[in-house]
Formats: sequence, structure tokens, C-alpha cells
Amino acid sequence: MDKPAVASGVSDQAQPSSSGAVPAFLLDRHPPKDNFAADVLEGLAKPQKQIPPKYFYDARGSDLFERICQTPEYYVTRTELKLLSDIGPDVAGIAGRDVTVIEFGSGSDAKIRRLLDALPSPGAYVAIDISRAALEPAIEDLARDYADMSVGGIVADFSAPVAVPHDALSGGRKLAFFPGSTIGNMERSRARQFLADVRAMLAPEDGFLVGVDLRKGRDILDPAYNDDAGVTAEFNLNVLRRINRELGGSIDLGNFRHLAFYNETEGRIEMHLRSTTDQQFEVAGRQFAMERDETIHTENSYKYSVAEFALAAESAGFRVMRTWQDPRSLFSIHYLAAA
Ligand code: AVI
Repeated sequence: MDKPAVASGVSDQAQPSSSGAVPAFLLDRHPPKDNFAADVLEGLAKPQKQIPPKYFYDARGSDLFERICQTPEYYVTRTELKLLSDIGPDVAGIAGRDVTVIEFGSGSDAKIRRLLDALPSPGAYVAIDISRAALEPAIEDLARDYADMSVGGIVADFSAPVAVPHDALSGGRKLAFFPGSTIGNMERSRARQFLADVRAMLAPEDGFLVGVDLRKGRDILDPAYNDDAGVTAEFNLNVLRRINRELGGSIDLGNFRHLAFYNETEGRIEMHLRSTTDQQFEVAGRQFAMERDETIHTENSYKYSVAEFALAAESAGFRVMRTWQDPRSLFSIHYLAAA
């Protein structure tokens, strides 16, 4: 089937990159900006202090996360990448030709390329990301390297369904893509809502390819979030550095230690920053006090059994077409069909 041209009405913001690549469109839905100050002040005022994990990812935090992915202990990224290569032909067989891949986030160049390279002549790619700064270079690079495919981006918050313009689609199925077990950083009820929101964006027989980290023993999970080189600790502490810099904080990073452990009952890794002493500090003009051993909860990373994830997907209106795991059952990738 001929690929429909993307209507100029959609191409409201497309601009050539320095490389000369031109994405078909960049649509800015102007999602509300994060309110770092309000979220941190509210989180630090709770009985169990907390900071939302999305604030890890300033420039240094994003670099540190890339470095976490290279540590020998953090099996997640390399296991998923290898699995994606291995299952490429199977995924291609299910998805068919002329697919429109819709990626939530525009984070992992390596993963999306592995998927696109496996698919038989994918027709279009649309990335949805809340950060225009992250989205623009990512789609420019893909537009340059996949010249036969229509490449576009939507600046939007995908914590609610995002309308993808009809003329951004190719003639085949839609295939939503959410790698990295980022779904694990959502509370379980939130993850179920996210699955339902993705389902609402798809038509029957469209697909959703999602990477999910599996429940497993502490012997593997605890080291993965406590690497010997201390990169995960640096990543965790970096959010305090960011508070000091952006919110006029007076936090002494030397008074905190990284704490990460597997909470087996909840099936999640919890990351905290543990106060090593009784202390007081200021953030955005407000005073906070912490006792020795009190913690700030910074992240949950939920792990699923295959059955648990299938149940969540089915209750959101999907049918599980295939589930793949690596030989050690560390990580899973699910192909969900819109039922
Ligand atoms: C991004 N996300 C899936 C990572 C995870 O494993 O939950 C974030 C992370 N936190 C510490 N290490 C990695």
C-alpha cells in the first residue's frame, strides 16, 4: 500500500536539522510544565518524605542513568537489547508490513533501531515525549537514517491517551512500543491505567510491544541497584544536588547515603536516601528536619511475574499474543494485541 503523505496541517513545526534530515512533523501539544519546586516541597512535607523519580533526569542524571545501563550488575538494558534482537523475526511476523510504530518516550535509540530494523518496511514512526528538547534530535536522527519511513514527533504527556493524527499513520497496523521496563516505575494501579490509555489509542488488532522486568531473587536484584562502582548511588544522590542548584537548597550531600533493596512483598525495588545524622536543611525558603536513619523515598521499580503482567494487560483490554523471556528469565517482552 502506498504510504500517505503527511498533511502539511500536521507539519506545523518541522524544521530541518543541521544534518539536513527533516522529520515529517513535530506537533507540540504544550503539555503543562513540571513544577519541581511544588512537587519537592509537597514530598518533603509528607510523613514518609519522597521525591518523584522523574526528577532524577536532569542532564547529569540522564548521563548517570546511561552509565548505570553499562554496569555489570544492571542486567536490564543489555538483556532487553539482546532479547529484542532475538525476537525481531517473530515480532515482524505478527506485526506485518507497513506498520506505524508509536514510541512512548524517545529515550533509547538502540532499542528503537533494533525494532525498526527487524520490521519489514515499517511505514511510519511517531515518538511521543513530554520533552521537546529530547524529542527533536531523536526524530531528526531517525528521519536521516530511515529515509523511506515517515518520522514524526508529538510533544505531549503520555500519562493520558494522546491523539495521533490520522495522516501521520501508514497503511498497516499501529504498534505501540514502551521498552526499558519504564512501566515498572509506575505504581501498579497507575500501570494498569497506562495500559488502558494505550489500548484507547489503538484499534482492534493493533499491537503493543512492552518490556517488563521480572520478579526474581534478591541475589540478582539487590546488586543491580547497588552497583560496586557506586553509579546508582551517585544517580540517587544527584537529585539532592539538583534541589540545591535549582531550588536554592542547603542540603549537605555528605549527610545522606544511597539505600536500595528489594521489597519482596510489594515485588519492587525501593530506592531511598538515608539521613546519616539528625539534620536540618532549607529548600526554596522552607526548613526541613530529618532524624538519623529517616529516609527520603525516591523511586519504586516494580517487578512482575509473567502471569501478573498478563492479568494487568487483559484487564486493560489486551490479548497477550506472545511473551518472550531471556534464558535466565530475567526480563520479558510482551506482544499485546488490542482485543
Ligand atoms: C528507568 N527505570 C526502568 C530504571 C529502573 O530500573 O527502574 C531506573 C533505575 N533506577 C535505578 N537504576 C535504574
